[in-house]
Amino acid sequence: MKVLVIGGGGREHALVWKIAQSPLVTKVYCAPGNPGTAALAENLPIAVDQLDKLLAFAYEEKIDLTVVGPEQPLSLGIVDLFESHGLKVFGPSQKAAFIEGSKAFSKDLMQKYNVPTAAYGVFTDQAEAEAFINRTGAPIVVKADGLAAGKGVIIAQTCEEAVAAVHDMLSGNAFGSAGSRVVIEEFLTGEEASFLVITDGRNIIPLASAQDHKAIFDGDQGPNTGGMGAYSPAPVVTPAIHEKAMQQVIIPTVEGMVAEGRPYRGVLYAGLMVKDGEVKTLEFNARFGDPECQPLLMRMKSDIVPVLMAVAEGDLSKEKIEWHDKAAVCVVMASEGYPGDYRKGDEISGLDQAAALDELYVFHAGTAQKNGACVTNGGRVLGVTALGSTVKEAIDTAYKGVGRISWSGVQYRSDIGKKALERL
Ligand code: AMP
Ligand code: GLY
Repeated sequence: MKVLVIGGGGREHALVWKIAQSPLVTKVYCAPGNPGTAALAENLPIAVDQLDKLLAFAYEEKIDLTVVGPEQPLSLGIVDLFESHGLKVFGPSQKAAFIEGSKAFSKDLMQKYNVPTAAYGVFTDQAEAEAFINRTGAPIVVKADGLAAGKGVIIAQTCEEAVAAVHDMLSGNAFGSAGSRVVIEEFLTGEEASFLVITDGRNIIPLASAQDHKAIFDGDQGPNTGGMGAYSPAPVVTPAIHEKAMQQVIIPTVEGMVAEGRPYRGVLYAGLMVKDGEVKTLEFNARFGDPECQPLLMRMKSDIVPVLMAVAEGDLSKEKIEWHDKAAVCVVMASEGYPGDYRKGDEISGLDQAAALDELYVFHAGTAQKNGACVTNGGRVLGVTALGSTVKEAIDTAYKGVGRISWSGVQYRSDIGKKALERL
């Protein structure tokens, strides 16, 4: 069977790594991929938004299954396009991916189907937004409605800051058309968890629990990033929290999407805030989390391909997923300046020395090959991911790997997994 993975980040390297291990698979392609995926798959020089080129390739090469990593091609309708040409593809339709593509839609959906979430309002008018902000008080959260590459959320500490953020978004200065509508919501406190399930629209298989580390600096300080590290399992997701997440968040959402005429197939990712034994939903994503995917797939014992294929074919009822008992931790190594403007082109050393460690895998994200060397080529560069019989052991191995890799200006958090240790 021939599989095409779409995307070129750490998540897609992890998907290629896992898919290539399947005895069902003879060849993996990755578009556009990165130097990490090049070692396991054939990279294609096609960007994730070049849907016609991706379709032409999949059609001509008779690709048996396409797996879509990032949100952008999903929101552009890649799944609808492939299916209309008889190709099997893992991911939600354009209408279903709207759950991530529009925060206003996703909040209204949660409200309609009684999914616990922060109180909110949706605005296109500055004066109305200001009135809401002044009524609610700070801290308060301002979100661009559309896709903004993980940067469209402002946690405002004062009402003035919130008003300015709304102005930036509504005027089109920030995030272009994605900011022409804003969601303003109550600031929630608690501990975050990433709760991912795979669903065909009726049957639901929850994945192992995970926790991301969004802020750039240790102790969750500084601006938010795409994610600076993740671990699995996440002890904050106790069996009772797991049950609440399923009953109060996932099941009503999957059923609600069917009722809305937007049946959801693929990975549904709920960003949860857990506090005092209760869950609230921060957001939905229509895809695997990055970097959560890296530790999750390292812990996945079963072959992922039959599960992905079953979703593409619309019937997950006969599938199950088994997990290794081990914990996994992923530490993201990033370029100087990230999440702002970052440096590129710095030569990375120590990759082979790190890879020599047992139970450790270095997933590439923003890397490139230049004159025979591996250089930095993005904000998040590598995801050094390790297994361990305990979280502590996985953390130690991951940081041993991180310690062997360097480049000029490298930055990473030194406290990935610490919250798990505090709970154990
Ligand atoms: P989102 O893309 O909506 O998940 O927001 C990105 C990040 O912003 C989340 O992972 C949280 O860290 C933070 N965040 C979003 N909404 C809220 C909220 N209502 N209260 C507190 N933090 C939030
Ligand atoms: N790591 C968070 C995300 O993928 O959205």
